[in-house]
Amino acid sequence: MAPRKIIIDTDPGQDDAFAILFALGSPGELEVVGITTVGGNVPLALTSKNALKVVELAGRPDVPVYAGCPAPMVRKLITAEYVHGETGLDGADLPEPVTPLQGEHAVNYLVRTIMDAPEGELTVCTLGPMTNLAMAMTMEPKIIHRLREVVLMGGGFFQGGNATPAAEFNIFVDPHAAHKVFDSGVPVTMAGIDCTYTALMTPEWLDALRATGSRAAIEAANMADFYRQYGTHKFATAARPIHDACVTGYLLAPGIYEQRQCAVTVDIVSPETIGMTVVDWWHVTGRRKNCNVLRRIDPAPFFALMLERISALP
Ligand code: BDR
Ligand code: CA
Repeated sequence: MAPRKIIIDTDPGQDDAFAILFALGSPGELEVVGITTVGGNVPLALTSKNALKVVELAGRPDVPVYAGCPAPMVRKLITAEYVHGETGLDGADLPEPVTPLQGEHAVNYLVRTIMDAPEGELTVCTLGPMTNLAMAMTMEPKIIHRLREVVLMGGGFFQGGNATPAAEFNIFVDPHAAHKVFDSGVPVTMAGIDCTYTALMTPEWLDALRATGSRAAIEAANMADFYRQYGTHKFATAARPIHDACVTGYLLAPGIYEQRQCAVTVDIVSPETIGMTVVDWWHVTGRRKNCNVLRRIDPAPFFALMLERISALP
């Protein structure tokens, strides 16, 4: 079977870097046709530079990187240096990229590429605020029905939120964009924090990754050691979720995820709960089931596969 074609929309971010490396290490199953960047964990200039650093680390500077929206559709940008460090990729020692960004804006790239691809071929994976995709859907609504699927890291329900008591970071940063995508009619799969907290990355697993000896594996383990610190101090747990990598894991091995079709809406009006993904888990509303909600991962096969694929990179 031909590899599944994906565009990764991202705000790297160490866990974004894991998701990208995991995908680029799986060329038999996934073809990353392009990467688009957005302001999120750190400002756009840094997320764009970081995406270039990651494709170079993977030995794949041929994967084009397009810079997108620097700020959310309506609200001001909120960043997360307190988790990811000033660069967004603190912990890794990666050279300044030599590969240039593409000249085209990411939103134009999304519209052009999705319109040019055969219907139902492309999947967009969003690992940050969904501004670029929502803007592309606004600019050219015909893309909505040309996409195979949107697979996103964001939201959550049973866990509450990690940015506010109700909202997960990616959805909280641009709730209006998330609302647009969930409401659009495109098939959506959501890896929210209910799911990502069931696959905790341990120091022992990072040691095993580092011990494989490839440069990509060593730098990934180094950046993860930095990324773990915030949660380890805050919650006193050494094992931490590697959120965005759960999207790649789903594309490669959907059978290791517990999942359910549900109606999901995004709150864009209530001051206390703006950015909350309201999941109708028990189907009490009768609303259209617009989202495949990932609830749990079987962690052992997930981490075994990620180790195999990242360590296969140079
Ligand atoms: C999400 O927020 C970001 O900080 C991470 O990169 C991930 O995409 C987790 O809530
Ligand atoms: Ca991210």
